[in-house]
Amino acid sequence: MELHHLDVENELTLFLDRKIAYYKEYLSGECANYIPELKVVNPDYLAFSLMLPNGKVHLNGDYQVPFTLQSISKVITFMAACLYNGKSAVLEWVDVEPTGDPFNSLLRFELNENKKPFNPMINAGALTVASLLPGLTPMDKIQGVTRLLSSLLDKDVTINKKVFESEWETAYRNRALANFLMENNLLASSVDDTLFTYINLCSIEITVEDLAKIGLILSLDGFDPVRRIQLIPAPITRLTKVLMFTCGMYNSSGKFAAFVGIPAKSGVSGGILGVVPPSLRSHPLLSDGCGIGLYGPAIDAHGNSVKGARLLEDFLQSYDVKIF
Ligand code: DON
Repeated sequence: MELHHLDVENELTLFLDRKIAYYKEYLSGECANYIPELKVVNPDYLAFSLMLPNGKVHLNGDYQVPFTLQSISKVITFMAACLYNGKSAVLEWVDVEPTGDPFNSLLRFELNENKKPFNPMINAGALTVASLLPGLTPMDKIQGVTRLLSSLLDKDVTINKKVFESEWETAYRNRALANFLMENNLLASSVDDTLFTYINLCSIEITVEDLAKIGLILSLDGFDPVRRIQLIPAPITRLTKVLMFTCGMYNSSGKFAAFVGIPAKSGVSGGILGVVPPSLRSHPLLSDGCGIGLYGPAIDAHGNSVKGARLLEDFLQSYDVKIF
């Protein structure tokens, strides 16, 4: 039995070594160019991490390279806002509908009659949700999220100040979005405070191993199987996974759901957070669920990691992971 398990784990390591070498060489792309600090990152990085409910972690590729959460922070921010305000209070401010538009689109403000942001995974919705975080100052609001993230990761988290400054100075679109939101009474704090909060949250530094741990806790509906504690109420994590599945990859969320097939969330820094729910049909290694973290800073036109998405799709197909 033990021997069989070792075989499976060795197979996984060999599979990942081979795939990482392949995608590193054969897929290209460019880093996000509208945030100067992200543009200067090596676009060839590729890293993968998987965490199982027994606490075992698989790490491959450039897994030691830290990066900023960017839009993956929207997942944590949404859960923090729900924890402090209650889910239904948050949903009075933001809807749960996919848009099919780019993540930073202003279009819906002109078209949508009630103007409520479509979902918390696009920038408009995330700005509104950031404004709802507890506390009067942006620092209090930021701490509401870093505290939750620290409790998930069981360690302190840091904010990359260079990335923050770089985005703060060039946040023309997000500033426009925040102004539209304010005009429509959809911000609970000032435009500047909301932007300051949101951009700091996007600048939290993380590794693929951290993402895999968050993914594992989401997979198990908020329960940390290693420390054996319920860190987030199950209903909040379930709603978050639905939002990741339907809206997490922006205007490729439909294709991602169809062809990759798990709840996931991307960030323009090239990170992807993946959640594999427990399933009887998966490969035995993954049937109790797992969390996956990927990093590949070269992104496509939708803002999703090119190498990361291909590696994830390939991995899930090979290990027969499907939620439907
Ligand atoms: O607000 C922005 O534009 C960035 N801080 C985050 C956007 C992002 O990560 C979209 N992702 N794929």
